[in-house]
Amino acid sequence: KIEQPFGMVIFGASGDLTKRKLVPALNRLFEAEILPERFFVLGAARTRMGDEEFRSRFNTQPDLLKRFSYTRVDYQNPDTFKSLKRVVDDLMKRFGVRNLIFYLSVPPDVYVPIIENLSKAGLNTETSRIVIEKPFGKDLKSARELEQVLQRSFGEHQIFRIDHYLGKETVQNILVFRFANFIFEEIWNNKFVDHVQITIAEGIGVEHRAGYFENTGLLRDIFQNHMLQILALITMEPPSSFNGESFRSERVKLLRSIRPFPVEDLENWIVRGQYGRGTVNGRVVPAYREEPGVSKNSSVETFVAMKLFIDNWRWSGVPFYLRAGKRLPKKVTEVAVVFKRIPHSIFPNVPSKDLEPNTIIFTIQPNEAISLEFQVKRPCPGMTPQLLSMDFRYEDYFGVKLPDAYERLLLDVILGDTTLFMRRDDLEVSWELLDPVLKAWESDPVRFEPHIYPSGTWGPKEADLLIERDGRRWRRP
Ligand code: BG6
Repeated sequence: KIEQPFGMVIFGASGDLTKRKLVPALNRLFEAEILPERFFVLGAARTRMGDEEFRSRFNTQPDLLKRFSYTRVDYQNPDTFKSLKRVVDDLMKRFGVRNLIFYLSVPPDVYVPIIENLSKAGLNTETSRIVIEKPFGKDLKSARELEQVLQRSFGEHQIFRIDHYLGKETVQNILVFRFANFIFEEIWNNKFVDHVQITIAEGIGVEHRAGYFENTGLLRDIFQNHMLQILALITMEPPSSFNGESFRSERVKLLRSIRPFPVEDLENWIVRGQYGRGTVNGRVVPAYREEPGVSKNSSVETFVAMKLFIDNWRWSGVPFYLRAGKRLPKKVTEVAVVFKRIPHSIFPNVPSKDLEPNTIIFTIQPNEAISLEFQVKRPCPGMTPQLLSMDFRYEDYFGVKLPDAYERLLLDVILGDTTLFMRRDDLEVSWELLDPVLKAWESDPVRFEPHIYPSGTWGPKEADLLIERDGRRWRRP
């Protein structure tokens, strides 16, 4: 149980994230009796409403709701932050709280005014923390500008930049699998690994987020954060300790060793796609360009496949194939570490090229699992190898539903632990890598027009070519 009382001010409290993620996560922490005796939640947004109306939006424990209140703010108007300060001071006195958490669950165009107005009102005290969600800028320049504003008002230890993938149990388990076992780390390198595939697939389309997505696209939405963070955990060197800065530093060091993309023949490294009409789970769905709020001739990508190299001793020469997209056949996130083929087959009529290689698969979600594929002898006369999979399934073994990523991350914010959050240089490095790609796409829209793929398929055929050219195949998770 947490001892330290806290107050949480949620900007954008009338929005989707608050209802879908934040309040349910708080509710579960409350039910598990992890939250301290004294805490409060203050919703702040542009909508006019009273405390009762605010509380009525959530389906949670009445004992938790009692601690909720609401106040209106206009993000652009410093005066409303003065009244916010009065409300906050009053709550802090009432609940006996010193630690304040500001959660920015708002569109990115109001990050800067909110941060500036918090400082003007003197709310950015030594004991305050600020939580922000992506997008952290649109490119390297805007990310730096946002960072400058943030750093003027808060110290790095007070800033919590969320990448909710780092809050997932299965993502954190990559670290335990690698660094709490001895036998895998010895083979985790270019001597044994042939290549690595990471897939972040979703069956859903852009849903109600066309406004956001039209300005963002899939490269910024998924690769700049979730994809690169998963890649880093799979490939980083062992940190000396999980806590403190060591883990974050190793992560960033890895990201720094990703080879920049050659802009001259970018098509051979990164494929852009956009979903057309098709069928997902037996349901006919419209094309991206037919979605409400999307421009009829939008060239925003909803799919990206890329190949990259990590230029360091451990990974030199090992290709990494990464893909993510909307309206793919199903929701699945997995990492497959594919080992080399055996050098020579001793079995008659079984050439080594017919023996599927060993693969370790981390199924991040759903049906969370870790699997090892290996060859066994099929019980029959003769020597016939067959590939099978040995699986550890979270559900079978632990029998509990895994906690939502926000539960863990909110807890860490309350405890003041930044380990699982992005550091300033995480952002800098990821934007440095992707910024030239975005610039190239922008400067030649005809050349880089996304390839249309039917909804419910694994992306455009160009994505298949990207890997097949190298004599490999995408897995079908
Ligand atoms: C978000 C993206 O960060 O992650 C969404 O903005 C995406 O576009 C979502 O749908 C996927 O998260 P999860 O946890 O469902 O894999």
